[in-house]
Amino acid sequence: MRTEDASSIRQSVNRRKVFKLSAVAATGAAAAAVASATACSDPNTTNQTKVTRPESIPFEGKHQAGVATPQQAHLAVVAFTVPTGLDSDALRKSTSSVFQKWTELGRRLSVGDTSIDSSLISADTSTSRFTLTVGVGARFVELVGGRRPDAMVDLPPFVDEHLEPELSGGDVLVQLCAEDPLYLAGAIRAVRAAASGALESKWQSNGFIGAAAASTGRSPRNLFGQIDGTNNISINQEGDGGPVWISDAEPAWARGGTYMVLRHFGIKLSEWEDTPLEVQEAALGRHKRSGAPIGRLTETDPVDLTARGADGELVIPVNSHIRLSTPTPGAGEEMLRRSYSFTSGQVGAPDEDAGLIFISFQRDPRTSFIPVQQRLAATDALNRFLVPRSSSLFAVLPGAVDGADWLGRTLLTGTGPNEK
Ligand code: HEM
Repeated sequence: MRTEDASSIRQSVNRRKVFKLSAVAATGAAAAAVASATACSDPNTTNQTKVTRPESIPFEGKHQAGVATPQQAHLAVVAFTVPTGLDSDALRKSTSSVFQKWTELGRRLSVGDTSIDSSLISADTSTSRFTLTVGVGARFVELVGGRRPDAMVDLPPFVDEHLEPELSGGDVLVQLCAEDPLYLAGAIRAVRAAASGALESKWQSNGFIGAAAASTGRSPRNLFGQIDGTNNISINQEGDGGPVWISDAEPAWARGGTYMVLRHFGIKLSEWEDTPLEVQEAALGRHKRSGAPIGRLTETDPVDLTARGADGELVIPVNSHIRLSTPTPGAGEEMLRRSYSFTSGQVGAPDEDAGLIFISFQRDPRTSFIPVQQRLAATDALNRFLVPRSSSLFAVLPGAVDGADWLGRTLLTGTGPNEK
């Protein structure tokens, strides 16, 4: 258990989740890319902040979309491996072709142009706020002759994991997000078709957040029923460095990218549902209905980790999730969380196959995700309801900066982000 001294320096920080919308100004580049934006306010949620949500997410930029983008309702993450027996020249050639096709797909689908692929049967004029984001695994970097950045570590084992190799890792990862599951389904098929013959399928997961959260930009609830995302950090799509974007790392191919951690957590729903509300709330450190820190009234109230009740006990318990995950000031532990719930519909022993696809983006997992996950794995009160099933790390590539650029160019051609 952590001492009060150590935890009390995790002082109240009220980092709002509202993303900087300079990230996502609509382009109007195509008829389908409607340049208007909507402001929504849902009276049924505790957080009344109005969030402007653009109709389309620009594909081009120094950073890829799908990181600083407010979460769309639906997610698919599709992992591939490279075939064995290719030398690095052949591999660079075959994957360059796939990455160029994916770039074109992302560019077109983000403006609602579905004419690029016959899989996209859902053709209409909506952009579905589509984003396509490509990342690569450490083995891929080495196989194509790139230099593996120091921060691109293998995630260490954490306490009590039950990892399923068929759900972890991969050489290349494509994250696809959209408001419309039909649009997403067509995009997945098109992504797979473009990879056919060059990359082999490894695993795929689909996730969702609540429709109300997706349409308002407010924090969604997870399958525990908790509001998840309140104290997320806010990041700027146009910015450099900071807690998420890689700016100063060698080698140059990674600059403008970020590291993505992806872990599947099964949730023991029956056990959770049989647990009294006050025990559930103590495990998280927040009230379930309002999302307020224990002892407070509203979701956005600051978290005071030093507060004590009349009995002298800490109000936010020592092993609660929010106390343990609060970043240590000045230690570089901040990360951007962008997680989605999943359920496969399979009901088996001991419980339904459901949980959370935890996704975080960070500049350096060695100072952020890893130490935070080590603390959580050791004593988080949520652990008894969780089954960690996968653990993966990918380097999200820098963005395609203009219409001639393509994702992966800097890695596969060995030229820096500002060179062609
Ligand atoms: C199934 C697994 C998990 C669930 C259900 C979950 C749920 C939550 C919820 C409901 C909150 C409070 C609301 C908020 O501020 O977002 C929260 C906060 C947070 N979680 Fe998790 N979480 C999970 C796993 C993780 C993991 C693996 C990490 C990182 C290693 C993490 C890092 C954080 C952080 C940094 C916060 C914000 C703490 C603060 O500054 O107040 N969570 N989580």
